[in-house]
Amino acid sequence: MTQIESARGVDGSMSPATRVFPSGFVWGTATAAYQIEGAAAEGGRTPSIWDTFSHTPGKVYAGHTGDVAADHYHRYAADASLMADLGVNSYRFSVSWSRVMPTGAGRLNPEGIGFYSRLIDELLARGISPALTLYHWDLPQELEDVGGWPARDTAYRFADYAVALAETFGDRVPLWTTLNEPWCSAFLGYAAGVHAPGHTEGAEALAATHHLLLGHGLAVQGLRAALPAGSQVAITLNPVVARPATDSVADAAACRKVDGLQSRIWFDPLFRGSYPDDVREFTAEVSDWSFVLDGDLEVISEPIDLLGVNYYNPIVVGHYDGVGARASADGHGDGAGETWPGCEDVEFLDTPGRHTAMGWPVDATGLAELLARLWRDYRKPMLITENGAAYDDVVDADGSVHDGERTRYLHEHLGALLGAIADGVDVRGYYVWSLLDNFEWSYGYSKRFGIVHVDFDSQQRIVKDSGRYYARVVSNNALPEG
Ligand code: FCB
Repeated sequence: MTQIESARGVDGSMSPATRVFPSGFVWGTATAAYQIEGAAAEGGRTPSIWDTFSHTPGKVYAGHTGDVAADHYHRYAADASLMADLGVNSYRFSVSWSRVMPTGAGRLNPEGIGFYSRLIDELLARGISPALTLYHWDLPQELEDVGGWPARDTAYRFADYAVALAETFGDRVPLWTTLNEPWCSAFLGYAAGVHAPGHTEGAEALAATHHLLLGHGLAVQGLRAALPAGSQVAITLNPVVARPATDSVADAAACRKVDGLQSRIWFDPLFRGSYPDDVREFTAEVSDWSFVLDGDLEVISEPIDLLGVNYYNPIVVGHYDGVGARASADGHGDGAGETWPGCEDVEFLDTPGRHTAMGWPVDATGLAELLARLWRDYRKPMLITENGAAYDDVVDADGSVHDGERTRYLHEHLGALLGAIADGVDVRGYYVWSLLDNFEWSYGYSKRFGIVHVDFDSQQRIVKDSGRYYARVVSNNALPEG
């Protein structure tokens, strides 16, 4: 188990064969606790905000919940074997906070810890390096009841939880990610209301943003103190690739707002120690930002080792002049509504071309553009911590799943990644989203992202064609021709 090293040769050169990834490249699959584990009320686990939300009528497609999900809590050993068969060398999973710390604070729950301990051992026994995400959206309900992320205290509870886990698993887990896509926690959860806890207050989303970042910074400080030397600490973001609808000044301004609220509001405090002025200005009517206290930005900008990047698709943004219906193809289920505080003059336009089952455009040039921009602006070594696609898969009579569109999506995006690496961008690994079909948040089980098919009645797993393709890429450390 080693650190994720720069994939470049000692002299900084890349492999001459353009389809070959750098040696030491990390190949993984990603999942998240609430999406796969099930066993929602077993082993001392208490409800998270996603249990409450999914059990609230009308919030999730067809009333689906994560109560059983892919039953990974009971099938973790077989799932680790599946990963070994695919040949991956890392597994990105998240810990359910309320499983290991049922009240959200205080003592650890031995049964919950036991589950992750066994999972980690199964991975290590198969040569798969565990990459642990502390928070993938499932806040303990008890903490939501006393204010959730809009409350400052949640940041301190998060740091305590991070340290407790680091003290428990630090000797076996080399890579720690604090938050997954905090933009979704803040804006989809507290402004758009399409994610738990389902609030629709722009001011809460902005306060949540700051407290998520503060929690991250406090956790990084705590992790540094608790983890053995050589451990790596990261955060995973989902920066937007926003393209203006036309070359008009108004569309460019609309685009910049969206970029400010989904990308720079995270990157600037993390890497520059300040919030972007334009974002503070255009959200001033929504919030006075009094939640930012002296010293917070120093904590938030505590250095990290790696930046996790999740990428699915670009979006097209235009200026909305208030005439006619406002276009709302932003891909987050609620359209242009409350997701974007201060952006009432912004609209989201549909794009021609191929789309996934989520309605998201397929465009790998967005990944290349994003990586180039992040490397230029922030110079952090990166990992692609999620990339993948949902399609309406069919299990054939012979039990196979021919998901050619997903394979094509992966192939195109891996090609774009290879191009970025050849251009000098420091990307050290790639995790496909997802290992398994799973609970896709407000879409329930209606959207399948897995490279492994799950029959949610029998819990049978079938490796899809895309899984076989991925295994080939991993074993060759190279893209096949085509
Ligand atoms: C990301 C989430 C992940 C999954 C994919 C499709 O935003 O991090 O849990 O839902 O989208």
